[in-house]
Amino acid sequence: MINFTIEDHQGNRQEVEAPADMGLSLMEILKAYEYPVLATCGGMALCATCHVEILEGKDRLGEATNVELDQLEALPEYFPTSRLACQIRIGDILDGAVIKLRGEDN
Ligand code: FES
Repeated sequence: MINFTIEDHQGNRQEVEAPADMGLSLMEILKAYEYPVLATCGGMALCATCHVEILEGKDRLGEATNVELDQLEALPEYFPTSRLACQIRIGDILDGAVIKLRGEDN
């Protein structure tokens, strides 16, 4: 299991725990914890509603793919720290990260 911190739209932080070896995406973990992530496309990097910012630990995650970057660049607002949660695999690289929700929540 790994632990990382989620910051919601109101700025509240919670530490969450996730299995590092099941091939789950960060988006799936956010939904499991009942965060308001629409994930309309089901994790295909097509909707960008799973937009998050990696406040701490981004360097360990590596670069976003071009498909992911195309979606991020189409958003009205995105940041150098922006990623799509569905494109991030849960693994040891995420241990200790701090992730802020950015996607639409309704
Ligand atoms: S769930 Fe649609 S882009 Fe991530």
